[in-house]
Amino acid sequence: MKMQKMVWMGALALGAANAQAAGVTLTMSCGSVGQDHEYCKKIAAEWGAKTGNTLELLNIPQSSSDTLGLFRQMFSAKSDKLDVMQIDVVWPGILKDQLLDLKPYSQGVEKNFFPAMVVNNTVNGKLLALPWVTDAGVLFYRKDLLAKYGEKPPTTWAELTATAKKVMEAERKAGNAAMQGFVFQAKAYEGLSCSGLEWVASMGGGSIIDSAGKTTINNPQAAKALDMAASWIGTIAPTGVLNYAEEEARGVFQNGNAVFMRNWPYAWALGNGADSGIKGKIGVATMPRGEGAGSTSASTLGGWQMAVSKYSKHPKEAADLVLYMTSQPVQKERSITLLSNPTIPALYQDKDILAANPFYGDLFETLKVAIPRPATATGVKYNEVSAAFWNATHEVLSGKATGAESVKKLEGKIDGIRRGPSW
Ligand code: GLC
Repeated sequence: MKMQKMVWMGALALGAANAQAAGVTLTMSCGSVGQDHEYCKKIAAEWGAKTGNTLELLNIPQSSSDTLGLFRQMFSAKSDKLDVMQIDVVWPGILKDQLLDLKPYSQGVEKNFFPAMVVNNTVNGKLLALPWVTDAGVLFYRKDLLAKYGEKPPTTWAELTATAKKVMEAERKAGNAAMQGFVFQAKAYEGLSCSGLEWVASMGGGSIIDSAGKTTINNPQAAKALDMAASWIGTIAPTGVLNYAEEEARGVFQNGNAVFMRNWPYAWALGNGADSGIKGKIGVATMPRGEGAGSTSASTLGGWQMAVSKYSKHPKEAADLVLYMTSQPVQKERSITLLSNPTIPALYQDKDILAANPFYGDLFETLKVAIPRPATATGVKYNEVSAAFWNATHEVLSGKATGAESVKKLEGKIDGIRRGPSW
């Protein structure tokens, strides 16, 4: 993996009122999707100017699975080349032995955040990260196209499938040969675990592993959910979707070539950006539900936390940066600029944020019921379990196995990863 660093100095404002011991250089990694990197650079520059420290940014891969691989490599070498990093909501258990306990530095600020996120980030009594941004899967649709063909946003997968097909075919006839019905994340990586969990849970097929740690994926509803998603490939979704992460899906949708897209809320701000071909034409809805008993709308809980490496040579400054980045004023500004979702409940009532983010009221409801991936139950083994799930799902999507075959095999695989009655 290629690492690139961007360096800039915060030395300009050296001697600013609240500057602390000047002169340390920290390296931080932020997100790499959408406008994350650029925005982090801005915040980091502000913090650098405020404190007189220097910040370097580590560029990371776009896939969160690749980023985890990179961090694990650095941690296993006990590298001090990364001080502060953005970690996925499903990683505290995986990285528990490599992250610094922030409790001694936090001065109780954790009480301001969503309690469930703080619980998620606390492992064996240690506060391993502070919540930075939260996420939930949502359905984006083309308001203009649904109106043109007299359709409503779908509430079930069957409706989505029918509407996607109808609008796609009509638009193709009308001259846009590139038009697709539905794009989503289906490449073999963490993003497919997020999509797959939504399909399975929405059909009443559970959440792969239950909160007691038992493998539940081998059930008919889960199999049906994977078969349903497989039926979209090459019909309403391009076969290329098997290699789409977030940004590939957004690219197709934002170019005006898809009726529906499953993605995270970050895609809204970009889709409505000045250079977007579909500015003003985007609607957002909750994810469709399945049909029949136990079916529900299911949205996977995502999100990112800021953490400090145990191997950092500057823990005090690194913790200060984490506190600054996750603070209420910074989250407020970020939320208005990027339409990202804050991790502080009070901000969901903030007038300026509500004015900038028209769908926040609804999103807040979605966030409250979003489904966590089974990361707490599986702890350090979460990534292995997730990889088993995304590979099993990918096999069904690419026509190599049926849903029923795949979930049966997956159950055995997960039980093998657990190797015993408990995780
Ligand atoms: C988003 C989510 C994160 C998830 C990732 C998968 O970044 O916030 O939790 O793991 O997408 O691609």
